[in-house]
Amino acid sequence: MSSSSKSTRIQKTNAEILSLLDGLSDKVDLERKFGADYLPLAPIDTQNERKTDELSKTEKTKALSKLEKQVKKCTKCGLCEGRTNVVFGVGDPDADLMFVGEAPGYYEDVQGEPFVGRAGQLLTKIIESIGLKREEVYIANILKCRPPENRNPNAKEIVLCTPHLIKQIEIIRPKVICALGTFAAQTLLDTKEAIGKLRGKFFEYQGTKFLPTYHPAYLLRNPNDKKKVWSDIKKVRDYLKK
Ligand code: URA
Repeated sequence: MSSSSKSTRIQKTNAEILSLLDGLSDKVDLERKFGADYLPLAPIDTQNERKTDELSKTEKTKALSKLEKQVKKCTKCGLCEGRTNVVFGVGDPDADLMFVGEAPGYYEDVQGEPFVGRAGQLLTKIIESIGLKREEVYIANILKCRPPENRNPNAKEIVLCTPHLIKQIEIIRPKVICALGTFAAQTLLDTKEAIGKLRGKFFEYQGTKFLPTYHPAYLLRNPNDKKKVWSDIKKVRDYLKK
């Protein structure tokens, strides 16, 4: 096959995949609205990828910056059209603790850094409450680009963007991942269970301890639940101390 017909075929296949994902995304949105179950996301197979737990801090830094360059060029889901910046992630590439949120909001999109708005300020306080500095952990999101009007991520965006996060986790190899809110917890655990049921319990994510808790933006609306997050984050602190 000539290289031009090969590239036409690849383009056609990509277009077909995107149109399938659009269909799936509409189905999920509809089913969510009507309260029906939606299709679980297929687990992403990272078995065959090279494990990177042997990387030094310098190697992790290099690997993350290479990945960041690739992610900054990503146009797969279409959110690139409205973005000011790709919000890749921030923090210590060799962190023991990694936080995963949902998606950038207005301030994150403008500054290119996750959790810099009001919810971010609360996250910084949560981090400091266990004796760590923001620069000592790593912070990233499921989506790297801001959804318009801060709407919820849709299935297509989650499916296309999560592999970037999985690569970040593979490079950083934290001891604990703390999922902030419904989207991070449900996506990485591949479950539909409510965050209220998942929070405060340790799970395993690809061999890494994984603890979901409420999202700081939820806490701003429901300050009475801050004590639950305090109890959750203490579990993380105690595990890291061991
Ligand atoms: N909410 C998130 O989930 N992530 C951010 O980066 C900011 C707000």
